[in-house]
Amino acid sequence: MSKQQKALTLANGLVIPAIGFGTWQIPGGTIATEIVTAAFSAGYRLLDTAAVYGNEPGIGAAILQAPFPRDEVFLSGKLWNTKRGYESTLRACRQSLKRLKQEYFDLYLIHWPASIQRFSDWESINADTWRAMEQLLADGFAKAIGVCNFDSFLLKTLAKTAHIQPMLNQIELHPGFNAEDTVAYCDSHGMIIEAWSPLGSGALLDHPTVLALAKRYAKTPAQICIRWCAQKGAIPLPKTANPSRMSENIDAFSFELAEEDMHILDGLPALAPSFTNPDDDEMK
Ligand code: A2P
Repeated sequence: MSKQQKALTLANGLVIPAIGFGTWQIPGGTIATEIVTAAFSAGYRLLDTAAVYGNEPGIGAAILQAPFPRDEVFLSGKLWNTKRGYESTLRACRQSLKRLKQEYFDLYLIHWPASIQRFSDWESINADTWRAMEQLLADGFAKAIGVCNFDSFLLKTLAKTAHIQPMLNQIELHPGFNAEDTVAYCDSHGMIIEAWSPLGSGALLDHPTVLALAKRYAKTPAQICIRWCAQKGAIPLPKTANPSRMSENIDAFSFELAEEDMHILDGLPALAPSFTNPDDDEMK
């Protein structure tokens, strides 16, 4: 992949923008509409949404009001954990589309795998849910399908029953969280990676190594982190409600990190995961 590439291609040929706009923690209603409209103005076309974020109606309104056609937006949605299973997944996807006032998702994802710790039948839950995802693809409710937060073991397990492999895996990925095994599995199986929390949920923005590189490249710490993700071949999904930061973050494609600087960032001490599977939290 060219380092300057502005779009990637999923296994089924669907073109996906090389950077997306994260909508987690964006309040619902007109605030969501305003923020997504600002993201469109800044140049974002890939919207990373999820039912559990509670802001689908406001985001849908921004799409309907956009000064460009629907097919210029790449709308991604996620199935929440309480909706897993075949019938329930089919219903949940249609309900999300209804809230968004949309006919289809460009990409629909399973938000979290069923936790191995919590569910003795995790394997069949994930398999049944995935079978519904394949149905949603066949029925045109999603143009592409994928997962989030599946590690290489869970992907291998899913592959035993899947007819169509996930086209994309959205995972936590940023300097200090290299997810090497998962990235290697996805790379070798033609799955594109999306990077959630590319700024380490903001924790990397005052990291001395990131600050030093930002100074040397005359870029911001956020741009260094986003660029690192992009050069890993992943699609960064930075989140901000601030229009000038939206522009700053999407502008991370105008420069390239040298190989040795990628290695420096690869070698940052490991950070703890920003979030773990909510299934497990419920067991505590
Ligand atoms: P804010 O919404 O106030 O801009 P991540 O995407 O890794 O989860 O990080 C999100 C956090 O990083 C949010 O707190 C967001 O705050 C902040 N953030 C996003 N972009 C930038 C930026 N360019 N500069 C500084 N902080 C940023």
